[in-house]
Amino acid sequence: MTHTAPTPIHTDRNLARQQRFWTRRAASWDHGAGNNPGLVKVVNAVLAEAEPRPDEHAVDLGCGSGQVTLSLAGKVASVLAIDISEKMIRLLLEHAGAAGVTNVDGRATPVEELDFEPGSVDLVVSNYALHHLRDADKPVLVRRAYQWLRPGGRLVIGDMMFGRGGDSRDREIIASKLTHLARKGPAGWWRIAKNAGRYLLRFQERPVSIAAWEKMMRDAGFDDVRSTQVVNEAAVVRGLKR
Ligand SMILES: C[S@@+](CC[C@H](N)C(=O)[O-])C[C@H]1O[C@@H](n2cnc3c(N)ncnc32)[C@H](O)[C@@H]1O
Repeated sequence: MTHTAPTPIHTDRNLARQQRFWTRRAASWDHGAGNNPGLVKVVNAVLAEAEPRPDEHAVDLGCGSGQVTLSLAGKVASVLAIDISEKMIRLLLEHAGAAGVTNVDGRATPVEELDFEPGSVDLVVSNYALHHLRDADKPVLVRRAYQWLRPGGRLVIGDMMFGRGGDSRDREIIASKLTHLARKGPAGWWRIAKNAGRYLLRFQERPVSIAAWEKMMRDAGFDDVRSTQVVNEAAVVRGLKR
């Protein structure tokens, strides 16, 4: 297992914010993710939709401390795990080491700056990470993933997927999030105010709808694009490169 040079402090404001935020939250995400039944369902749905094979080389974008990577590693030849937070990568590699997993590498870099040889990857997965990308960067990444994949390769994205209230499913998800927080009293009201900034002003969380991800995949050239809603707010969208 290797770990490339430390991530620089980014001059790009979005990347610098994500890096700071996730470095602060790395330990608590690592601690809590396995106890979050919704997240575990989405991780499992990503693994199922990926249909990994033992001879395949996979990349996990926004890998966190290994929620998808570590299970995927047992089903493929190798996983390259990418995260903007070096602390997340460190935690992932510690977990891999403790579990005797030897086919995982970690790289602390933003997914926006990734580059691989065309046709050099079999499987690109991502879970609960790409809603942090700016909207303009999402289709660019999907197009790049298409280039990295060899024919027969798949891109599988699990994430919170809803728009800003344009349809009834969006409104239902936003209302259920608000109700959940409002029930927590003043602490929840503070979270509502913070989340209004994060979601509505789109400076931290920028989810888009299932249909938007499907369109990005089709526009990039993916075939057989399909989606599965897994929990209220989250779905998995997958495309195949023929
Ligand atoms: C909500 S966590 C999800 C982690 C893990 N994939 C999981 O399923 O639990 C989001 C992760 O995306 C990473 N991230 C956010 N923006 C990123 C970017 N631009 N490039 C790479 N990683 C990013 C964060 O550091 C964090 O580890």
